[in-house]
Formats: sequence, C-alpha cells, structure tokens
Amino acid sequence: MGYTRSTMKKYLVTILIILVVLVGVILFASQKATAPSSQASQKSTTVKTIRFNKSLYSTTDPASLWVVVNKPHGLSPINYAPTDLVTPNVPLRVAGNESMQLRAAPAAALESMFSAAKQAGLQLMVASGYRSYDYQVKLYGDYVKASGQAAADTYSARPGHSEHQTGLAVDVEPIGKNCELDQCFGDTAEGKWVATNSYRYGFIVRYTPADQAITGYEAEPWHLRYVGASLAGEMHTKGITTLEQFFGVSGGPNY
Ligand code: DAL
Ligand code: ZN
Repeated sequence: MGYTRSTMKKYLVTILIILVVLVGVILFASQKATAPSSQASQKSTTVKTIRFNKSLYSTTDPASLWVVVNKPHGLSPINYAPTDLVTPNVPLRVAGNESMQLRAAPAAALESMFSAAKQAGLQLMVASGYRSYDYQVKLYGDYVKASGQAAADTYSARPGHSEHQTGLAVDVEPIGKNCELDQCFGDTAEGKWVATNSYRYGFIVRYTPADQAITGYEAEPWHLRYVGASLAGEMHTKGITTLEQFFGVSGGPNY
C-alpha cells in the first residue's frame, strides 16, 4: 500500500506546521524563563515608588499600633485594656508593678533599644508603662487635687485619653533617675540619644516642645509612643513629628 504524491504532500505540510508551532512555543518559553531578572528590576523600581499606605492600620481601634489617642479622641471602649501585656526584660523603676508592663511588640522593641543605648554607654530604665483606666482615674485625680484641673490638663491625660492605657507608651529615664520625668531629661545624654535613635526601634517622642498646640500637652521628652518601625521611619524621613499631622486627625488642648 503506497502513498499518493498529494497525501505525502499533506503529511509534510502538517509536520512542517507542527514543527513551526513547536519552535514558537520553545522560543516563547525560553523568553519567559529569562524574563524574571527584568521583572525583578521592574518590581524593585515599583517598590521604591510605592507610597506609604496610611490606611494599613486603624487609627481608632485601641488595639491598633497606629491608634491616635489625644484629648478629642479618647479610647473606645473607654476602659479598654490590652490582652498581651508583658514585663520587658530591662531595668524597671518599680519591679513587679503593673505599670512596668507593655504590649508584647513595644516590650521587645524597648529591649532592643535599651540594649543599643547600653552599647553607647547609656543605661535607661522604665519609669512608667501600661496604666489601666482605673489607675489613670487615681493619677489624674491626684494631679487635679494638687494643682487644679486646668494645670493638670496641661500634663496629664484624663482617664480613657492616655496613651499609657494602650500599653504602647512608655516613660523612660536614666537608670540613675537624674531629670526623672523632668524637662531637663531632654538635655541629658540619655534624652538626646532617645530623641535621635528611638525611631529606629519603632518609637516616636510623642510630646515635643514645638507641637504643644497640636498634641495639647506640654513637652515630654521622656514619653515614647510605639507605632512600629515602618511608621516611625516614615515620620522621621518626612520630618513629621505628630500623629495628628501625619494622619490628619484633630488634636489640641480641648476635650
Ligand atoms: N502625660 C501624658 C499626657 C499622659 O498622661 O498620658
Ligand atoms: Zn508618658
């Protein structure tokens, strides 16, 4: 049984088409295989130009690392308490006290920061960390009794309005207690080191002298607020010193 000339021709044409398609597929596949390097460079360019996502975390959820707590923006619920409090492994003003605790993330960051400060020859200590709603009731009440409400409001938050209640804020001081919770802390070597370096560990100095009208409080060079390294780094790069300005949230001296 033989093939006719025309049948042979058809077979040859079919084989040729199959070969052309195969070569095409192989060429396409090999191009894809070499593409990743150009894709990767495209990707890294994209990453560089991506804008900081200010909506990544809530600014109103009390458990959010980016929560904005100030006079017009109290915590909701007002008696919020964090669920992951731990005591950082650092020098503490009053060992075993509830107020020496912080949430897990800021506690770990504080340990790294204090250890870096120690490498620089500076020993820091926790003066005050987490404060419950009830504790703030007593603290603020005592300040009002001592100096009157108007004066107390310039340096102490009313219950439900303190960053300390989130477990994300910590007051720090030199281990020798010089300039303890005093403006002069900002002039100590420890205070200067904290002002310069805390952003690397995810903290911001929350109450600065220049921002009193925005934060609603007198300057507190010792009060650090944990916001995470990405936000602290972004604020540092942009030169923005308050959460109110960064997120466009109201603040100021009035409740
Ligand atoms: N001293 C700060 C404002 C607080 O009471 O939370
Ligand atoms: Zn504080």
